[in-house]
This record gives sequence, C-alpha cells and structure tokens, in this order.
Amino acid sequence: MLPADQTLPSAPLQRLDLPWLIEAGVEVAILRLDLIDPLISGNKWFKLIYHLKAAQTAGAAGLITLGGAHSNHLHALAAAGKRFGFQTVGLLRGHPQQTPTIEDLQAFGMQLHWLGYAGYRARHEADFWLPWRELYPHLHGVPEGGGGLEGALGCAEIVRQGRSQLDAVGWTDYDGWWLASGTGTTLAGLALFEEGVRTIHGAMAVPQGHGVPENVAAIIHKHCRSALARESGVSGDDKAADQNPSRASALLRRCHVLDASRGGFAKTDPHLLAFIDNCELQTGIPLEPLYTGKALLALHDEVRAGRLPGGTRLIFVHTGGLQGKRAI
Ligand SMILES: Cc1ncc(COP(=O)(O)O)c(C=O)c1O
Repeated sequence: MLPADQTLPSAPLQRLDLPWLIEAGVEVAILRLDLIDPLISGNKWFKLIYHLKAAQTAGAAGLITLGGAHSNHLHALAAAGKRFGFQTVGLLRGHPQQTPTIEDLQAFGMQLHWLGYAGYRARHEADFWLPWRELYPHLHGVPEGGGGLEGALGCAEIVRQGRSQLDAVGWTDYDGWWLASGTGTTLAGLALFEEGVRTIHGAMAVPQGHGVPENVAAIIHKHCRSALARESGVSGDDKAADQNPSRASALLRRCHVLDASRGGFAKTDPHLLAFIDNCELQTGIPLEPLYTGKALLALHDEVRAGRLPGGTRLIFVHTGGLQGKRAI
C-alpha cells in the first residue's frame, strides 16, 4: 500500500514576526505543515500514517472513512489512494452536492456514499459499521478526521520536526505548542510525545460540547493503558488503566483547550477575515478561516489579554487545510 521507503515529509520551522507578538515579547515559530505536500497537506500525513500501516498489516486493499463535503481528511486520503494505488471509499455527511473538494475526491477515484444528516449522526452507534464492513470486507475503516490513537501516534513526528529545527529560529528551547483542534487527535499526539514537559494549547475550531477534551482524554488513557500493559505484562486494558491513572493525568494537565470557534464550526465573521488578510499580508503565510485563522486569532486575543507572559516561546502548528479555502 505504501512504498517501503516512504517517510513523512519535512516541514520548515519559521519565525512568526507579527507586531502584536513583538510588542508583548511573546516569541512564536510556525511549523509549516502546509508546505509538506501539494495534496496530502497539513497534519493529515501524520494522522494517516499509522492507519495506513495498520491497513497494510491487515492486508486490506484500501481504506473507508467519513467526512463532510469540504473535508481536508477525505481530500488527503483520496489523494494518497490515487498516488499509492489503493482503493478509497468516503461516507459523506448530508446530501449530494458539488464542491471543489468533492470534484477532487471524484477525480482521485474515491467512491462516495452520501449518508444524509441523520445517517451521518449515527456514526457513533455500535452497529454503524456493520453494513459497510459487509459491503467492503477488504477495506480498513478509519475514524472521522483520521482520529483515534493511531492518528495521534503519527503526530510524534510533528514534535520531532519542530524540536530538530529550533536553531533555525535561534532558540535552544520552547515552552509549548499552539494549534487548531477539531477532534483533538493532533493535540493528543503532541501531548503523548511531550510527556508532560511542555504545554499544548488547542484552539478549538468547534464549540464547547463537541467532545474535544473527552476525545483527548480517551486517546491519552488508551495510550497509557497499552504502555503500562507492555511494560508490566499486565494483561487486560481496564486492569492496567486502574493502575496507571497518574501518568495519563500528568499528560492531560499539560493539555489546554480554549474555544476559538467564534460561534460555530466553519462560521466566519468580518473581524476574523480582516485579521487573516492582515496576517497574510504581514507574513506571506496563507491561512484559512476554519482552523489556522481561528487558531491564530485566538492566540492574538490571549496575548493581548496578557495571559501569555513576555518571554514565552511557542511553536504554532500550521495544520494546512488550504484546499478547503476554495469553497469560501
Ligand atoms: C486544517 C486542519 N487543522 C486542524 C484540524 C484539527 O485536527 P484534529 O482533528 O487532529 O484536532 C483539522 C482536522 O480536523 C484540519 O483539517
């Protein structure tokens, strides 16, 4: 499914010199995951790599997953399927519509099924996957957004890439990470590999109540359970979890989420759009209004409110998503 020598592409780390950061003495470097690949862009490669490896190990002929009509996840997976020659199936929220993303999915050869809204809401029900497994027994299922522990594990590489380039921005250390969160998978991945040492700030692109903290906690607990089971030979996930609550709590204490959704997922407003235009003009770095633009505006507001002390050094992850901008 993937060539044996396939490695994750490297993203450059660059200084982000914006006037409001300089004024506050807060230093930010941006890890440009948007530059790693023209199609499998942003955090998607990192979130997909372990799902692809699991599919390969299972001898699957391809992958089946879910998303919306503008989904960056579906776009990256369909592009990967076309590039590496495996089958992809997308289960879509809502009713058939044509968007630039859908046109690309079709061009990449992804097979699409529209589930309606109620059908899509049923995706968390226990028997949701049954008919799809029957229809596509040879395909490996990937959760929405490439999430789950497999999705988070690939994000270790994001931490490694950021750390290995500190000298490029004149740093020897940093205090934490700032990134947009949708499911919280990427945030959880960074937290796993920071091991409780640095803070990870997740600027939520979805409002409170959409399960981001719960999802982050579920991934971290699952990882700590399997780590303990491996280390101690304790068998049985729950037994191990009961014995390892402090490790998970230590990691979770360093995960900070804040609502950056500005009233709802994909909702935009003139202030946000003007802020993005301004930042793009000042830095030359493209942003989009669903994830990266909202995450940067949330950082701006925290800095302006004095909640990040001068001298703080953060790595802002540019998680990509620029393909979705075509429909806005
Ligand atoms: C561009 C972009 N940034 C950030 C995210 C959020 O990532 P996560 O779901 O891992 O929190 C997503 C997808 O969900 C995305 O498409």
